[in-house]
Amino acid sequence: MTQVPAIQLSDGTSIPQIGFGTWRIPDSKVTGVVLAALEAGYRHIDTAAIYGNERGVGRAIAASGIPRDELYITTKLWNDAHLTADARRGIENSLMRLGLDRLDLYLIHWPATLQYGDSYIEAWDALQQFKAEGLTRSIGVSNFLPHHLDALSGETPAVDQIEVHPTFSQRALRDELTRRGITIQSYSPLGSGADLRNRELARIAARNSKSVSQVIIRWHLQHGLVVLPKSQTPIRVRENFDVLDFELDAHAMSRIDALDGDNRVGWHPDTARL
Ligand SMILES: NC(=O)c1ccc[n+]([C@@H]2O[C@H](COP(=O)([O-])OP(=O)(O)OC[C@H]3O[C@@H](n4cnc5c(N)ncnc54)[C@H](OP(=O)(O)O)[C@@H]3O)[C@@H](O)[C@H]2O)c1
Repeated sequence: MTQVPAIQLSDGTSIPQIGFGTWRIPDSKVTGVVLAALEAGYRHIDTAAIYGNERGVGRAIAASGIPRDELYITTKLWNDAHLTADARRGIENSLMRLGLDRLDLYLIHWPATLQYGDSYIEAWDALQQFKAEGLTRSIGVSNFLPHHLDALSGETPAVDQIEVHPTFSQRALRDELTRRGITIQSYSPLGSGADLRNRELARIAARNSKSVSQVIIRWHLQHGLVVLPKSQTPIRVRENFDVLDFELDAHAMSRIDALDGDNRVGWHPDTARL
């Protein structure tokens, strides 16, 4: 099997460039789906406390028999737990549900300023403490814009997980995060499915004898993004991982870049009320 490329984070650790997204996969179903993903070759799993499926992900990790150091596990601190004591309960509960004693990456899920003011600043201090204690190897943020990053003290987040897909590619924000040495994780990399219906992408896929989903995932990889496709359909889980044996040429990459538009499928970080 061709090796998934890895990216080195600013803290010196490395992260597999393809991760498996688990949002909206219920706990009752996620164990089988994650086992199918591990069977297909994924070694990086993205979950969150709010997804309500950490226990099921943990059951898959345990049942897989894959050595812990071959897996890369990310989870996220929910918005109502930014204050220090709550954040500590947050990471401890996530570790307990996942059946792990250490995460690979722990993220602040949203700045959530509309509901919780600037409490994300305190959460960042807590995450630095958790990393120092060895509860997680790396720490980062999600849905953070430059003005949120500017408010943080101490170390720079290793990662910002943001919405990126061909019809909403966030070029300016990506450039700014790269300038700051922050690795970008693309969430909703297929536009939560919406970009799969794009006709230009269908033409590029036909020319490459690949599916639209595979072309989009390649586009993320070739831009140096960590990509987190989700599917609860085993055949699609495998299809989305089968992207290591071809390359998009520069012309195809620029045609996909040209699809950039206003097609945000999630919430704007400054106005999200979650
Ligand atoms: N940090 C954040 O705030 C945040 C926000 C959103 C997402 N995320 C992360 O990013 C991950 C991915 O984002 P997402 O779940 O919004 O969506 P996505 O991966 O962009 O798209 C998933 C959708 O596309 C469908 N799909 C996947 N592969 C396909 C294929 N090969 N052919 C046809 N349809 C396909 C899936 O259907 P089926 O499942 O029915 O197969 C599902 O409806 C999440 O699971 C989560 O881990 C993070």
